[in-house]
Amino acid sequence: MPPAGPARSAPLVQAHDLARTFDVSPPWLNRVLEGKPRQLLHAVDGVSFEIERGKTLALVGESGCGKSTVARLLVGLYAPTRGGFQFDGQDAHAAFKSRDAKPMRRRIQMIFQDPYASLNPRWKVADIIAEPLREHGILSDKGALIERVGQLLQSVGLSPQDMTKYPHQFSGGQRQRISIARALATEPEFLVCDEPTSALDVSVQAQVLNIMKDLQRKQGLTYLFISHNLAVVRHVSDQVGVMYLGRLVELADKQKLFAAPRHPYTRMLLDAIPKMHDTGRARTPVQGEVPNPLSPPPGCAFNPRCPWVNERCRSERPQLFDDGSGTRVACHAVQEGRIDIPVVAG
Ligand SMILES: Nc1ncnc2c1ncn2[C@@H]1O[C@H](COP(=O)(O)OP(=O)(O)O)[C@@H](O)[C@H]1O
Ligand SMILES: [Mg+2]
Repeated sequence: MPPAGPARSAPLVQAHDLARTFDVSPPWLNRVLEGKPRQLLHAVDGVSFEIERGKTLALVGESGCGKSTVARLLVGLYAPTRGGFQFDGQDAHAAFKSRDAKPMRRRIQMIFQDPYASLNPRWKVADIIAEPLREHGILSDKGALIERVGQLLQSVGLSPQDMTKYPHQFSGGQRQRISIARALATEPEFLVCDEPTSALDVSVQAQVLNIMKDLQRKQGLTYLFISHNLAVVRHVSDQVGVMYLGRLVELADKQKLFAAPRHPYTRMLLDAIPKMHDTGRARTPVQGEVPNPLSPPPGCAFNPRCPWVNERCRSERPQLFDDGSGTRVACHAVQEGRIDIPVVAG
């Protein structure tokens, strides 16, 4: 249970200027012989957001925009090159680096995209789910472990009897439920979910998303939910952050983002979603592609694909600003009023 009092109103997760650079230089000898410079790839470049306890922030964007790198920063798999994040008021990376990192690791867990790759095929489900319980010294008694594994399986809609089986005996959706059960074993408060349903059939995706929503309601979980698909995000998020080439270009409440998208990139992603009700409007496939992150265009990184581009966009990088409605957007055209904002219905 979250603590009562003032601590409760502060966001559980506060990321400030998170950045991660990768050195992708050619080997030293090639650099010397061929006169090639060192090459740095800015995978995530100054991302800030907050997530309230019990809420879901979704991060969306095409492949290569830096979403998985944000996820890996938040669970401590990568250290930030710049910036950091506070978890429940604590500097999370200081905690991850410290000798006593287990309490923080226990509170933050991750679910990966591919439930085939993330479950050890040689282990029985019981051992897969019990591993974090042993690792964190939560339970060691065999009977207690079996009982807890059974409960965890039930919490994701599987049967305690499933614990004697191996991963290959399950479907993709069931395997992802096993991953969720394992992630929940340490009773985390924050789950970082990196495209958790992208590898699943559409019909199975909804089941897994419903289980995740259910668990959130029952256990007060906080989610960072990553997807390249805005249609999926619509079902699970409270807030949405749209990423482009390592930066947030729009951060808004879900309703606002879907009803009145600001950034031209958000509009492009939305136009690409098949529309269920509004059959009159054709879906427009996403145009162009994400530029090479090693040589990003000057100014706004989206400018080569943007219908509203002008000289300023080609030379000056836009910063996130609050447009007065609580939505934050990084776009000169929006800021200058050169682009019509749809009227929010309802
Ligand atoms: N370990 C790494 N080493 C070098 N480059 C990386 C590494 N991880 C990610 N990148 C690069 O960083 C960028 C963002 O990648 P990623 O965070 O995986 O994006 P997304 O999840 O949105 O597809 C990509 O250009 C990718 O090639
Ligand atoms: Mg990814």
